[in-house]
Amino acid sequence: MKAVRFHEYGGQDVLRYEDADRPVPGDGQVLVRVAGTTFNPIDAAIRAGYMRQAMPVTLPHTPGIDLAGTVDGSGERVIAFLPMLADGASAEYVAVDRGLLAPAPANVPLADAAALPSSALTAWQALFEHAKLEPGQRVLINGGGGAVGGFAIQLAAQAGAYVIATASARSREAVRAQGAAEVIDYTAGPVRTDRPVDVVVHLARGDASAIVEQIRPGGVLVSAVGPVEADGIRTIPMGVRSDAAQLAELARRVEAGTLKLDISARYRLADLPEVHALGEQGALRGKVVVTVRD
Ligand SMILES: NC(=O)c1ccc[n+]([C@@H]2O[C@H](COP(=O)([O-])OP(=O)(O)OC[C@H]3O[C@@H](n4cnc5c(N)ncnc54)[C@H](OP(=O)(O)O)[C@@H]3O)[C@@H](O)[C@H]2O)c1
Repeated sequence: MKAVRFHEYGGQDVLRYEDADRPVPGDGQVLVRVAGTTFNPIDAAIRAGYMRQAMPVTLPHTPGIDLAGTVDGSGERVIAFLPMLADGASAEYVAVDRGLLAPAPANVPLADAAALPSSALTAWQALFEHAKLEPGQRVLINGGGGAVGGFAIQLAAQAGAYVIATASARSREAVRAQGAAEVIDYTAGPVRTDRPVDVVVHLARGDASAIVEQIRPGGVLVSAVGPVEADGIRTIPMGVRSDAAQLAELARRVEAGTLKLDISARYRLADLPEVHALGEQGALRGKVVVTVRD
C-alpha cells in the first residue's frame, strides 16, 4: 500500500511517500481503508522529534491521528481519533481498535469527516469535562480561528454560552458564522474583553498574561497548549483522549446540520510534506483534510 512515513526525525523533507506493508490487525482490531486524514500541529512536533521523550514513536512512523474510512470487508463508514504513538492514517490502510470507531456522518464526503475526531473531541472535553461550561456563562475561545477553536465556538454557543473569540482578519467571518458574539483581533494588541469572562479555552501558544487578566476571580482557564500559571483562577492543562461515544454524538450533530466542518483546504496524501511546511509557517487555518482515497 502507499503510505507517508518518516524513518528519522527532522524537517518536513523526512516525510516519504512510499510503499509500505499493509498492517495486520491485532486482537480487537479491524483494518480500515482510509478515505481521509488531517494535519494537526502535534504531527509536526512528533515528526521533528520535539516529543520524542514524552511520545516515543517507533520508526518508521506513519503520522495521522484523525481517521475517516471504511471497515475492510463490511464497508462500514467510520471515523476515529487514533492513538498518537501507533501508526496513523496517512496510508491506504490502518489497523484500529474496534472500540475507537464511531459512525461517520452520512451527509459529508467521507474524507472530509476526518476533520472531526481529534479537534472536536478536544473542544468538547475542554468545554464540558474540564470547564464544566454552563448556559449563560461568558467564554473566551483564544485561538478561535483554528481547528479546535471552530468547534469550541459552535459547541459553546449551542450550549447557551456567550462566546467571545480571538481571531485575526482571515478568520473573522468564519468565527462569526460559527457563533461568536464578539471577535477580538489578537494581532491588534493585547486581548481585552469589555467584562470579565467565566471560562477561557486556551488554544494559542505564547504569553497568556493578557488572557488570564480577562477571567473573573474563581473562573477557569482550560489550556490545550501546556500549563499556565495564574493566581485567583483555576487553570487546567488538558490532553485530549479518544472517546467513541462522544465522537458518535459529535458526528450526529454534523449529520443534523448543527455542527459544521470548517475545512479550509484539501490535499492529496503525496502532498503531506507541503502541508507540514505550511502548518509550521502558520499558513493554515480551520481544518486541512488530506484525502487518501476518493
Ligand atoms: N492538549 C491537547 O490535547 C490538544 C489537542 C488538540 C490541539 N492541541 C493544541 O492546541 C492548539 C490549537 O490546535 P488547532 O488544531 O486548533 O491548531 P490550528 O488549527 O493550527 O490553529 C491555527 C490557528 O491559530 C490561530 N492563532 C495563532 N496564533 C494565535 C494567537 N496568538 N492568538 C489567537 N489565535 C492564534 C490562528 O488563527 P487566525 O486564523 O485567526 O489567525 C490559526 O488559524 C495547537 O497548539 C495544538 O497543538 C492540544
